[in-house]
Amino acid sequence: MTTTAPTVPLSQGVEMPLLGLGTARMDDAEAAESVRSAIEDGYRLVDTAENYGNERGVGQGLRDAGIGRDEVFVTTKLNKRWHSVDGARQACENSLERLGLEYLDLLLVHWPNPDQDRYVEAWEGLVRLREDGLVRAIGTSNFKPHHLDRIIEATGVAPAVNQINLNPYATRAATHAYHVSHGIVTEAWSPLRPSTMLQDPVVVEVARRRGCTPAQAVLRWLTQRGIVTVPKSSSAERRRENLASVDVQLTPNDIDGIDALDRGEDHVTDSDAFGH
Ligand SMILES: NC(=O)c1ccc[n+]([C@@H]2O[C@H](COP(=O)([O-])OP(=O)(O)OC[C@H]3O[C@@H](n4cnc5c(N)ncnc54)[C@H](OP(=O)(O)O)[C@@H]3O)[C@@H](O)[C@H]2O)c1
Repeated sequence: MTTTAPTVPLSQGVEMPLLGLGTARMDDAEAAESVRSAIEDGYRLVDTAENYGNERGVGQGLRDAGIGRDEVFVTTKLNKRWHSVDGARQACENSLERLGLEYLDLLLVHWPNPDQDRYVEAWEGLVRLREDGLVRAIGTSNFKPHHLDRIIEATGVAPAVNQINLNPYATRAATHAYHVSHGIVTEAWSPLRPSTMLQDPVVVEVARRRGCTPAQAVLRWLTQRGIVTVPKSSSAERRRENLASVDVQLTPNDIDGIDALDRGEDHVTDSDAFGH
């Protein structure tokens, strides 16, 4: 039985696990307990954010698990108030202090916030943080191709990862194709929501054919195509179920069937209109 997820190489020379633990809506206490337990069960990637207010709990969970720093991949994200070169550094230092870490594996600009129009400066700040060794890889979240075009043109540096809302009802094929053509790894947030998707007859049938659960079918539909994902669960049993999805083998036909459930871009939060 596989106990850890395979990794995907990032353009910036770092290996990232294909499946990890999401921690949105967990407070410090729950994050500490979930992270410790997930790591003991084989998780090697943890996704947090300044905005979740639980970086201290995540850091506690990492220490409680007693895992070597270089054996776990930690992602966090900065809010719009830090969109400047100096601000990005301050945000990174704040996150490191809350997590109790010396470096981050991946730091993301959480939302582009184009109304503020300072995401290019935020990106310049992240480029410097990587040059200075405070973060091993840098990326974006909720950036559309036209946002990515701007930061790449300004700095010549493409994000290693763009973390976006992606699931069988919002497959984001055009955005994913843009990522592939620019060497950017796609990471899917909220892969299991809306939960009605897990009762979709197509998902249920793929799961039946492969002898797995609907959640495992959805997660494997992502990771088998090299898309990183970070499902959140407060239940140790469901966390183990989610990690074990990496052992499922889908056929091209299974993958095409789930792809066909796409309902279009209108079903994801519009990052030209929303952000924090
Ligand atoms: N970059 C961004 O803007 C952004 C936005 C949102 C989220 N994220 C990240 O992405 C992570 C995942 O997204 P998410 O937390 O919104 O949603 P999610 O992981 O897609 O779904 C979580 C929900 O699914 C349930 N669940 C988990 N495993 C299950 C299983 N095997 N079978 C049935 N139900 C299951 C959970 O319930 P239980 O907890 O009761 O198991 C929870 O209600 C977040 O935690 C966060 O780290 C990033």
